[in-house]
Amino acid sequence: MTTNADRPDPLRVLVFGAALRTGSVNARLAALVARLVTDAGATADLAGMHEFDMPLYDGDVEQGAGLPAGALALRARLEQCDAFIISSPEYNASVPGVLKNAIDWVSRVQPQPFKTKHALLVSASPSLVGGNRGLWALRVPLEHLGTRVYPDMFSLANAHHAFTEDGDLADEGLRARLSDTVSGFLGLVEADVRYVCLSRRWYEFLGDRSEDPVTQRAED
Ligand code: FNR
Repeated sequence: MTTNADRPDPLRVLVFGAALRTGSVNARLAALVARLVTDAGATADLAGMHEFDMPLYDGDVEQGAGLPAGALALRARLEQCDAFIISSPEYNASVPGVLKNAIDWVSRVQPQPFKTKHALLVSASPSLVGGNRGLWALRVPLEHLGTRVYPDMFSLANAHHAFTEDGDLADEGLRARLSDTVSGFLGLVEADVRYVCLSRRWYEFLGDRSEDPVTQRAED
């Protein structure tokens, strides 16, 4: 018989929209995804980019004052989760500077928290491609940092007309597709977190052992 004591704690998933503006369609998509995560029995930590406010990366500032509060806040939230989901806009067919800047700052922490996490990438845009090109660009820094980025992604086209008043997706097919994507992702995270059969150190560079501070960050 399974008792409550045998049951593992719920998976913890940080979900955040990567736009600062009020009324962001990516914030709406993040809220919907957080709801799906909760419905699946996991714990969703829903965040907005304004919670991680930080200046542009500057090596002199880092050296003088260390990481800014917003970067430390993002690092803390990442450390508390098993996996994270980003809903990001696409700016000029790529990653918004605000998000890339946040990744750059947080990557300066050692051990950097992206390395041990799974991530699902979703996007929303009023355009017909739904911001999908931005997600391909976002994979690059995250995979570089060792994040296991889920192969499937979800991009919501015509996002300004896609939501119902209660925050769901109006289109039944898209609703099912998003739900399948989130549950497939959570299944993979669960398999990794609960039944550790994958090596955590899934990427190695020759330079991983480097202790020279000048080359360390270029290699790690
Ligand atoms: C955009 N937008 C945009 N949309 C898109 O689908 N592809 C793109 O390349 C761009 N490029 C772009 C650049 C800049 C600087 C801005 C400000 C906007 C439009 C963008 O998708 C739209 O503003 C979304 O509503 C932004 O997401 P949030 O803020 O609603 O989450």
